[in-house]
Amino acid sequence: MTGMNRFWRLESYPNGTDFASGIQLREEAVPDIGDNQLLVRNLWLSLDAGTRMWLTPRTDSYMDPTPLGSKIIGFVLGQVVESRHPGYKAGDIVRAYGQWADYSVLYPDMGDIWIVDAIADMRQHFAVLGPNGWTAYVGLTEYGRVRPGETVLVSAAAGATGLLAAQFAKAMGCRVIGIAGGAAKCALLTDRYGLAAAIDYKSDDLAARLAALAPGGIDCFFDCVGGDILDTVLPAMAMNGRIAICGLISTYDKAERVGPHNFDLILMKRLTVAGFFSPDFYFRGGEINRLTAPWLESGVVRMEFDVTTSLENTLDAYGKLFSGGNIGKVMVDLSAE
Ligand SMILES: NC(=O)c1ccc[n+]([C@@H]2O[C@H](COP(=O)([O-])OP(=O)(O)OC[C@H]3O[C@@H](n4cnc5c(N)ncnc54)[C@H](OP(=O)(O)O)[C@@H]3O)[C@@H](O)[C@H]2O)c1
Repeated sequence: MTGMNRFWRLESYPNGTDFASGIQLREEAVPDIGDNQLLVRNLWLSLDAGTRMWLTPRTDSYMDPTPLGSKIIGFVLGQVVESRHPGYKAGDIVRAYGQWADYSVLYPDMGDIWIVDAIADMRQHFAVLGPNGWTAYVGLTEYGRVRPGETVLVSAAAGATGLLAAQFAKAMGCRVIGIAGGAAKCALLTDRYGLAAAIDYKSDDLAARLAALAPGGIDCFFDCVGGDILDTVLPAMAMNGRIAICGLISTYDKAERVGPHNFDLILMKRLTVAGFFSPDFYFRGGEINRLTAPWLESGVVRMEFDVTTSLENTLDAYGKLFSGGNIGKVMVDLSAE
């Protein structure tokens, strides 16, 4: 195929959240593909906080570091323009790990690729009906082991994964408290999404608010943040409570490992603390969607989207995940390019 392909390349591992310090926009001819590969025109990029982990040199993370000089890998939704794989044809719409670029070269035999249906809002293939939804569902059910009537606390509750975890927990009959940065996000969580309460960790006294809102303790904490928030929540947990460690976004750009200082309470309160990695559960996506799609169709679960247009604005959009500039799912719309 003729034409040019713009792509984001990892030149050096970025300093903290200064992503432009290590990631540059480059251009090349549209790549040729080999046997069993696909060329896909990207229509949407899904920007995910976890991508930060493979933009570091650390080798003990849940993903290997992206080699310097490589294109940035992330979830995309795109249309197959050329297929040399028998399972796919030009015109198919796929969700897959691709590249932050105009075009992705995909290797379907490596997995994590799905042909998706045309639905009213294709962005939901990343949200309620995709990886963020699967993460929220698996974290709550397999690790949080939530039951109706329990009190569930969710951090980064106005972000993509947290907003879904909060709504799923509510739909499962739990009383849900959200933690988010700023009054506007907290008002959104209670007024639009019907959470029992929301705590602004930037200006409220988190410990005092938890004591007042959950005197019997938190049964399940779905944590997207780690660091000081996790440390402050530990004393507020109920006996035999569960903590589902979804993410540690407050620590991803720290040079040194962070706490928790209150580690001993895991024993004193007989807590179960478990980390989980959603790609381990992607094979369950279809099964989970059969449970969550009715919630989406009936309006029990909704989603906010933070959409940026143009590939060249990708780093600005990505930075919102770390500054709290987003509400809901951060995506880049390339459909007009
Ligand atoms: N385990 C898995 O398989 C898996 C899968 C998906 C996501 N995750 C994790 O889930 C978390 C959310 O990811 P996402 O992609 O859905 O992003 P997101 O929640 O849409 O955006 C990240 C949010 O985190 C909050 N935040 C950022 N830095 C913070 C800090 N220092 N202290 C407190 N809050 C901070 C911000 O909200 P505020 O304005 O409220 O601060 C920001 O909006 C991440 O930790 C990610 O790694 C894990």
